[in-house]
Amino acid sequence: MCRMTAPHPSPSPAPASPRPVRKAVVPAAGLGTRFLPATKATPKEMLPVVDKPAIQYVVEEAAKAGLDDILMVTGRHKRAIEDHFDNAFELEQALSAKGDTVRLEAVRDPARLADIHHIRQGDPLGLGHAVLCARHHVGDQPFAVLLGDDLIDARETLLSRMLDVRDRRQGSVVALMEVDPSQVHRYGCAAVAPTGENGVVRVTGLVEKPSPQKAPSNYAVIGRYVLDPEVFDVLEKTAPGRGGEIQLTDALQELAAAGTVHGVVFDGLRYDTGDKADYLRTVVRIACERPDLGPEFTAWLKDFVAGLTQDGTGREESRAA
Ligand code: UTP
Repeated sequence: MCRMTAPHPSPSPAPASPRPVRKAVVPAAGLGTRFLPATKATPKEMLPVVDKPAIQYVVEEAAKAGLDDILMVTGRHKRAIEDHFDNAFELEQALSAKGDTVRLEAVRDPARLADIHHIRQGDPLGLGHAVLCARHHVGDQPFAVLLGDDLIDARETLLSRMLDVRDRRQGSVVALMEVDPSQVHRYGCAAVAPTGENGVVRVTGLVEKPSPQKAPSNYAVIGRYVLDPEVFDVLEKTAPGRGGEIQLTDALQELAAAGTVHGVVFDGLRYDTGDKADYLRTVVRIACERPDLGPEFTAWLKDFVAGLTQDGTGREESRAA
């Protein structure tokens, strides 16, 4: 069952997009078991990447691509997500009284990114079910899906490329990344055929988390989609699949078999912040690139790495610090 909560009115919505795709859905109702115990009472999408929660980077990416209506699919303990993208009256008043305009703007930014709406998934029955919860809000228009824990570097243009492919070729579009064959079991995996267009393939089949032996390729589906609304009819009929969950991959497999799914190949920077090691890499990389933190942090990091002992404890550096 999915339950709608009242939308927070945006004080200054982003300018209207000329594209037919205006709406984005951000599923953020998963259990986040890979990151326990941190995610026992905090959604993994709210874990900070330097000083912003992961999901804010995702919403910024959608807004930058011109998607000005964003539906968050939230679950238990997801009140924090709703609050983050709302106004924070007392905090704003306190910062305003202090004249701290920099922090005041930072606090106000999330609610200004787009018109943000929320729906509760109820039970986390799978990514496909989370997307199905968006049906009423999305209606019969194509829409984007951005996974709330999957970060694409802000300099990349993946989502815009996918929207462009949808404009030209219709149907649904998935983002594909080549991974080491030993890693395909962590992803949905695509069988592909060339289209004649550089970086765009036709997806002829999809398998959720296959073994390396059963994988049709090493093209992994990553957390960006532009979907035709026909996916909802398919999801309504999709039975629980791998892990007992209603899998988006299984619904897309049916659309792929009908020849209406394309893939945009991505070879840029992408981070899965729901994975502990990738989360750490994300924080370090983004911290190093931040003008306010980077120079000092990078200097420390170089010293730290230089001081790492054979067993990787960094004890020598710690003593010196
Ligand atoms: P994941 O595959 O990362 O699953 O979901 P998870 O359950 O959240 O995390 P782990 O594997 O237990 O650590 C991919 C995206 O789909 C959302 C998640 O919140 C995440 O953004 N999702 C998943 C839902 O919204 N609902 C679900 O029922 C499952």
